[in-house]
This record gives sequence, structure tokens and C-alpha cells, in this order.
Amino acid sequence: MTTLSWAEPYKIKMVELIKMTSREDRLRAIREAGYNTFLLRSEDVYIDLLTDSGVGAMSDRQWAGIMMGDEAYAGSRNFYHLRDTVEEYYSYKYTVPCHQGRGAENILSQLLISPGDYVPGNMYFTTTRLHQELAGATFVDVIIDEAHDAESEHPFKGNVDFDKLDALLDEVGAEKIPYICIATCVNMAGGQPISLENLKRLRRWCDEHGIMFVHDMTRVAENAYFIQRRENGYQNKTIREIVYEICALSDAATMSSKKDAMVNIGGFLAMNDARFYERACALVVVYEGLHTYGGMAGRDMEALAIGITESVQDDHIHARVGQVLYLGRKIRAADIPIVNPIGGHAVFLNATKMLPHIPQEHFPAQALSAALYVESGVRSMERGIVSAGRDKATGKNHRPKLELVRLTIPRRVYTQAHMDVTANAVEEVVKRRDEIKGLRFTYEPEMLRFFQARFEQID
Ligand code: F0G
Repeated sequence: MTTLSWAEPYKIKMVELIKMTSREDRLRAIREAGYNTFLLRSEDVYIDLLTDSGVGAMSDRQWAGIMMGDEAYAGSRNFYHLRDTVEEYYSYKYTVPCHQGRGAENILSQLLISPGDYVPGNMYFTTTRLHQELAGATFVDVIIDEAHDAESEHPFKGNVDFDKLDALLDEVGAEKIPYICIATCVNMAGGQPISLENLKRLRRWCDEHGIMFVHDMTRVAENAYFIQRRENGYQNKTIREIVYEICALSDAATMSSKKDAMVNIGGFLAMNDARFYERACALVVVYEGLHTYGGMAGRDMEALAIGITESVQDDHIHARVGQVLYLGRKIRAADIPIVNPIGGHAVFLNATKMLPHIPQEHFPAQALSAALYVESGVRSMERGIVSAGRDKATGKNHRPKLELVRLTIPRRVYTQAHMDVTANAVEEVVKRRDEIKGLRFTYEPEMLRFFQARFEQID
């Protein structure tokens, strides 16, 4: 039974020591890292809010599952456990394990896309869009306008705008749209949910036009939490029931299980169509591994199967999102502009508003993220113009309306006191905001540039 407090439904059995560094250490480290927090060594980080991916704390049961690994090359017992768990909790009949989400995206994109196709989605995600483009498609954003507005309080900013979808259909025709890719709890919008009403309408739309519905289910449990809290008729349903209902509306899914399902590595492609499964099995052996392990160790598949069952427990998700809300409210109370409503996995600082003296082409969010690290040892990530990359046709920078720094909370890892320290760190960096300088590239990788780009300060 969910209580009013978001107190954690677990206690700590093992700890990992972390160390605080000096400001001089951090200044040196960020310069060496080219002002890119991805290039810092984690040992130089105090509180690591870079991502929620692969950094969750596994439970004692998951660790026990690690010991139950069946490392057979083919037909591991853990694969069958994973497959049955995916069907039981997520509805999908067939599961193809992959080393992580982008492995599944690669297989999916190669199997479904022909050059010249269009793939609509509720806002882009970096690796998802890149795999679509590498397979020859153009991504088309069909999310509602409110999603691009950090201030809008819309309760379901992940919703699809059917006018945008119909306009695309009229322009290119259903035969050029192999599938629509819908993320639950949209990462780049600030961890914003999609409603079940919108998802059901999308199911009808896909049936009407013979277009496949693919679900990026990376954060489906967090989405279910917001449905339970905000959507009429779902208050008395469990997270597990809502997650199942969401998944059952789609034809296939890609999953990065490093998030919701609390494992350090792993993912899968899942579907209901036997022929599609057969084709995915034929391709997964080329890129990932045999279809009964796809890049995962047996032990990791076991930990994942157990993690799935833990991820849909109401108490767990209440505490998980509760911690994110706690941090967000604390930062907001200090009059610091963030994306509203507060999302499911992270608090997103609005760098455009915080650093009005830095134009977008000088990467305000990148600069803010670096400054926050120097101030406090808290590591965050840019989610703005650097992450958005360049238009594949024109070569020009995409210019997203959202220029954000993401404070991403790992699952079951940090305490309330760590959240307090983080909120204080953000307040401190705001006090020195006039000293923060814009950046320019000294190295810009061609693909997914945010991961490895290097910068220098503009004086
Ligand atoms: N889809 C979404 C919505 C994601 O957030 C991610 C990863 C992926 C797909 C790709 O999965 O990393 O397992 O290959 N997001 C991480 C993040 C990296 O920090 O947001 P992956």
C-alpha cells in the first residue's frame, strides 16, 4: 500500500565509498575533460547525476540471481526466465535479448526501414534517431507543442499531436511510414509521460492506416506512475497493471533495461509477430550474439528478469519518482527555472533562462553543466543543442527549444541528504552565473557528438 511519504521501501546492506575533491582538482579535471562531463573520470565525481542508465543499485535478490547464471552459449535457463517475465509483465510474446537499448534499435531500424522512409516519434532520442537515419529514414517529431515549452504545466507532455501525425501521413503516405516510435516518459522532454487515452487513440490510428506501433519502453514504469496519479480511472490500478496495459497497446518494443529494470547492462527487442521475431533472430546473431543471449551474460539476464518484477512495485516507483520530485521541488523553491512538471527520472535545469548572457550557439547548457561540476563535484549532462546534433540533410545544427542540464537520479543509489547537497550546489552555481563563459568546439565527432566532444571557453 502506497503511503504519503516517499520513504524508500528498502534498507542499505552494502555501501560504496565516495570522495570529495577540491575546487582546484575539479578545475583541472574539467579542463582536461574539454568541458564535457562525459570525459571526466568517475573517481573525480562526488555525486554522479550524469545518467540513470546502468547505474542503479541491484537488490539482494538480483545479486542472488547473478549467482544463478547459466552461461551456456545456447538455450540458457536465464533466457527462458527473462522471456517468460517479459511476456508476463510487458505482454510481448517474443524477446530478443540485446546488449543494451541501442542494440535493439539497430536491429529494429535495419529490419523495418527502407531508404526514404519517415519515422514519426514523440520527440527524438539521440541513439534512436541516429539508428533510424543510418537505416535511411527521416525522423519526424509529432509530440505536442507543450513538450517543447519548459514552462507548460501540461500533465502529459509526452502525448502525440494527431494533427502533426495526419499531416505527415497526407504528405508522404502510409507506405513511407514503416512504424511510429513512441517513448514512454519522454527523456528529452524532461521525463514527461504520455497518457493512456493518447496511447489508445494511437493504437486506433495505427490500425486504421496499417502502420506498426513500436514502443520505446525504457521508462515505462515511471510513465505508469504519472498515469496512476493524473489520469482519470487509473487511481486504483496498480503500476503493474498500468504497465501491462500500456505495453499491450503496441506491436513491438525496444528496451534499455539499464533504466527502469535496474540492471547495469542489458536490453531487448520484443514483439508479438512470429515472422518479425524470426527475422530479428536472424539479424541479432550478426550484431549482438545468438538469439538466446544477444550480448548478455546468463547472469545478467537473470538479474534483469528479477529487476523487471521489482520495477513495477508501487512502493518502489513511489519512492523512485518521489526522490526526483523532492529534488525538483527544492530547486524550484529557490526560484531556479526548471522544466515543469518535474519528470520521472531527472530534474532539468532551464539553461536558457539561467544564462541569458550566453547565446545558444555558445552552448549554455554545456557550460552550466561544467560549472556545476567545478562548483560542487556534482556531475550532470547537457541536453540541448550539443545533444541535438546536426541536421542530416543540411549539416546545420538542430536548434532545440529546450536547452537543458539534466540532473538524473540513479535508482536506489543516493539519499535525501545527497539531494539536499545537489540542490545547494545548484543554488551556489546560480550565484556565480555571471562568471560562466560560453564554449566552442575544439573537437566535434560526426555522430552522437555530445558523448565525446571537446570544448574551450570563449573569453
Ligand atoms: N531510449 C531512451 C529513451 C533512452 O533514454 C536511452 C538511453 C536509449 C533508448 C538507449 O539505450 O543506452 O541502453 O543503448 N538513455 C541513456 C540516458 C543513455 O542517459 O538517457 P542504451
